[in-house]
Amino acid sequence: MIKPIVAGNWKMNKKVSEALELVRNLITLVKDITQVTIIVCPPFTSLYAVGQEIKGTNIEMGGQNCYLKESGAFTGEISPQMLIDVGCTWTILGHSERRQYFNETDSFLNQKLKYVLTTGLKVMFCVGETLEEREENLTESVLRRQIIEGLRGLQPSDLKNIVIAYEPVWAIGTGKNATPEQAQEAHAFIRALIGKEFGEESAKNIPIQYGGSVKPENAKELISQEDVNGFLVGGASLKADSFAQIIKACVP
Ligand code: PGA
Repeated sequence: MIKPIVAGNWKMNKKVSEALELVRNLITLVKDITQVTIIVCPPFTSLYAVGQEIKGTNIEMGGQNCYLKESGAFTGEISPQMLIDVGCTWTILGHSERRQYFNETDSFLNQKLKYVLTTGLKVMFCVGETLEEREENLTESVLRRQIIEGLRGLQPSDLKNIVIAYEPVWAIGTGKNATPEQAQEAHAFIRALIGKEFGEESAKNIPIQYGGSVKPENAKELISQEDVNGFLVGGASLKADSFAQIIKACVP
């Protein structure tokens, strides 16, 4: 059985003082939960402060993005080693907002993913179709392309350090979540594809998170789907109370 994994993607929200308040409240609310992997992904400016706060707790931390070099003349970028230095054990890669607004392509993400895995950081790798693509019946071909191109050249052993986040773009920040059936259908497709590309063992063990308007009200039904192993939560992770409720809904 796959341990549920719930991550909060704070995006470009929370100044340091606000980040600290949020994580302190969260620590109190979820301190007894051992059956769910809990991750917060604050913006870069709050990572150090939040990293100090979560030391010795059951909360892990991730970056929202990073670059594919250790250091150097790459103005505005952050390296995986820098994320590790401030307490991260994870990073998100390929979020649809990175793909959409910052032109991150499948092949660039593939290079980043391969580099990041060499540093020891674990990755939540995001995939998902737009509304237009869904309406044109392209969901599966988009997911296939994003996974095959994104994970190209990886070995089955690399997949131990990867979680796939299925995030239909039309459900992100819109309040309109995928139905449990739509989520299950996409997750089952992704798992079967991983099986075909990397073998049954990888398919059986890889956690697949759902993301897109996850709320306390829909978490239970979504997590009860066979192939939904957790969530990547945006808006509802900005309040300790709603994020904690989502985490609690995932306790088996
Ligand atoms: P949302 O964002 O929960 O606000 O829809 C999810 C995400 O972008 O990871």
